[in-house]
Parts: sequence; structure tokens; C-alpha cells
Amino acid sequence: MTYQIGFFGFGNMAQAICRGILNSQYSHKKNIAFTQRDPHKAASNALEFGITHLDLDVLLSHCDLLILGVKPQQLEDVADSLALFSGQSLVSLLAGTSISTLSDILPSSVFICRSMPNTPALIGQGLTGLSFSPSCDTATKQKIESLFNSVGKSLVIEESGMDALTAVSGSGPAFIYKIAEEIAQTAAKNNLDYAHGIQAIAQSFIGAGHMLLESKKTTQTLIQNVRSPNGTTAAGLERLEHSPFSEHLAAIIQAAINKSKELGAS
Ligand SMILES: NC(=O)c1ccc[n+]([C@@H]2O[C@H](COP(=O)([O-])OP(=O)(O)OC[C@H]3O[C@@H](n4cnc5c(N)ncnc54)[C@H](OP(=O)(O)O)[C@@H]3O)[C@@H](O)[C@H]2O)c1
Repeated sequence: MTYQIGFFGFGNMAQAICRGILNSQYSHKKNIAFTQRDPHKAASNALEFGITHLDLDVLLSHCDLLILGVKPQQLEDVADSLALFSGQSLVSLLAGTSISTLSDILPSSVFICRSMPNTPALIGQGLTGLSFSPSCDTATKQKIESLFNSVGKSLVIEESGMDALTAVSGSGPAFIYKIAEEIAQTAAKNNLDYAHGIQAIAQSFIGAGHMLLESKKTTQTLIQNVRSPNGTTAAGLERLEHSPFSEHLAAIIQAAINKSKELGAS
């Protein structure tokens, strides 16, 4: 039997994608397999997801599309095994790792996709950046795009933009959770229940996100539409404009971009 999708590395990100795929019914659980070193984790994940656990060598010879979900630092350990992959295409989830690095490891017949997903894939709200190896055919590109569209949205981008996308949407959810926490904590100090504060800021992120995507207005116009003279937003923005907020935010994103580049270079 050949499995449609195989997961090599079944940690947080791979599990989020697998759950999203199953929820969206993009693929049936009988068509998905994974490998995991720890037999206890393997047994409990096989039970929880209803997918098939295979030994690594069997997975590599019995799946069509392999999703590589190990850490970038673990790539060297798995390189000899990857060289034995006999399926058609590999989707890498690895931050920083280039298509060229992967193509040095994999058989030349394998189509490679470098992806950058994010954990909201778990609930069908992911954003995945995709770059393909030059040899990759249209049918394979479409198959991989539709896989990631089943767990959210996908963006096909030049590989040179992948480090920046990694910072923005791969790591982005963590930055947003941190901002949400700070805002809800401040609100809680001012008598708004913390859970209500989280609900209010989460819905504000969702609403503002839709406005950014759908209103066709610039960020400046959208800000002006909230900012009335002498109002609460103006008070907050004046404080923001006189603080190093923009500088700090740029430094945070740049640190994540630099780390992605560093992972690719090591
Ligand atoms: N987490 C995110 O939000 C996110 C977002 C975008 C991209 N990514 C990318 O996704 C990848 C995985 O990240 P993660 O957060 O999911 O990490 P993780 O939870 O640590 O998962 C890594 C997985 O790789 C497995 N693994 C490592 N070496 C292995 C080997 N030799 N044989 C078999 N399995 C092996 C680990 O197995 P054990 O359980 O046995 O250790 C673990 O299940 C990374 O490359 C990361 O850059 C993550």
C-alpha cells in the first residue's frame, strides 16, 4: 500500500497540519502515515489521530508525499535516511533550510517544496508560504497548494522572501499571543476580567485582520478611521509615537529573520 501523505517528524507543527487535514477531509486517515522514534508517543498518536505508524524505512518507501517536520538542527541526523526516499515529492516545514540544501540530500527525482506554515493550521486558519524547486511540475504544485489550502490559506512566494515570511507568519502567532497577554493584563488591572480582555483583543485581531484584507484601505487610513481628535485612540497612539515601539517591533521581526537566515547557514 502507498500512503498519500507521510509525516517524518510528528511534533507540534506536523500534528497541527495533520489535524487540519483530517478536519477538512482533504485526506482520509487511512491514507496518512507517520514515523516516530518513541514507541509510546507513536502508539498514543496513532490512536489519537487514527493514522498509521510505520518504521522510517517503510514510510520512506511507501508514501507519495513526505512532509518533513523535524527541527532544522536535526536535518543532519536524518539526511542519510532522506536519501532513500522513493516517493514523488517532499514538503519541508524547516525554518531557514533552503531548497538547494534539501536537493543536495534527496534523490534528484524528488520534487521539493519549501514551506512555512503556522500552527493555526490546526483549526483551518493557517497561512503557509510555499516555494518550489525549479523542476517541480504544475500538477505537484497544485496538489501541495490544495493540501495547505485545506488547513487555511497558502501563498506561493520567491524563496528569497521565505526568511521574512517565517518571522511574520511562522513566528507571528507567538508575537500576537504575547501582545494579547500584555493588553489583557493591563485591562485586568483596570477591572476587566482577564478572560473577557482576551476575548475582546482576540476578536479585535480578527476584525482588524478582515479589515486589512477586505477594506482595500491603507493601514494609515484604517488608523485614522479609529483615531478621533482628543479621543482614547489618539491618547494611546500619541504615547506609542513618542516611545521606541516601532523600533522595538522592527528589532523583534529582524531578530526572527536573522535566526531563520542563521538556521539556513548552519
Ligand atoms: N512550531 C511552529 O509554530 C512552527 C511554525 C512553522 C514551521 N515550523 C517548523 O516545523 C518543524 C518542526 O517544529 P515543531 O515545533 O513541530 O518541533 P517539534 O515539536 O520538536 O517536532 C520535531 C519532531 O521531529 C522528530 N524527530 C527529530 N529527529 C527525528 C528522527 N531522527 N527521526 C524521527 N523523528 C525525528 C521529533 O521526534 P521526537 O518526538 O521523537 O523527539 C519531533 O516529533 C521545524 O523545522 C520548524 O522550523 C514550526
